[in-house]
Amino acid sequence: MADSVPVTKATLRRMKERGEKISCVTAYDASFTRLLEEAGVEVVLVGDSLGMVVQGHDSTLPVTMEDMLYHSACVARAGRNALRIVDMPFMSYSRIDQALENAACLMREGGAQMVKLEGGEAVVDIVQALTTQGIPVCAHLGLTPQSVHQLGGYRVQGREADVAQRLHDDALRLQEAGASVLVLECIPAALARQVSAGLHIPTIGIGAGPDCDGQVLVLYDLLGITPGKRPSFSHDFLADAADIPAALRAFVEAVKTGRFPDAQHSFD
Ligand code: KIV
Repeated sequence: MADSVPVTKATLRRMKERGEKISCVTAYDASFTRLLEEAGVEVVLVGDSLGMVVQGHDSTLPVTMEDMLYHSACVARAGRNALRIVDMPFMSYSRIDQALENAACLMREGGAQMVKLEGGEAVVDIVQALTTQGIPVCAHLGLTPQSVHQLGGYRVQGREADVAQRLHDDALRLQEAGASVLVLECIPAALARQVSAGLHIPTIGIGAGPDCDGQVLVLYDLLGITPGKRPSFSHDFLADAADIPAALRAFVEAVKTGRFPDAQHSFD
């Protein structure tokens, strides 16, 4: 991290303006959070990917509010300067009143500093309600894992012109509704470049090519310990590092210098 002051949404916005890449990694416990902070990541994401990599489920759908609160609180105890974004689990934000209550709970009891929720047009009103109440929001478009069954599997999104256009429109609407950050997952690199260039809020990509304003990886993918097959867009940074802290530093460095992701870790 550039300075040892807390990272806020304003910090991320400034980084976008200056063309400085943002590094983000998922965390689910205190020990790894400490290592991530020492490695210099700007953002720690308590992702509902914990349902797959920690709990052993085959999707994120079984993850509950209790699970997110538990892991978020573990991460918060070790948190220092990195911005802490916490996923709202499946069906915890399907109505505005429910979304407000659950997001407030994640902030009050889980130490979240921003909440992340998946979806486009369908969540615009919810994003607006949260941000109006002072709850910062990270939106998430492209491959949205909580909709895996609706999408028909974990596959690249936005290759067709109409889907790409919808994603572009959704990104603008989410920004207008007050979202502070946008995660773009598994979309063609060219689409991610256009979306990122058209927004003033920062985008953080995963399988979305090199031209997002930042990059995120699931911690277990980054360390090459993913249960089952590692996604093709990720990279095992531990393979060439002496130890875990060095692997985390290598990820941060590769993001900052634009060496990750390369064409091999992106989609056309
Ligand atoms: O849950 C998660 O880890 C995520 C990232 C893949 C962006 O949403």
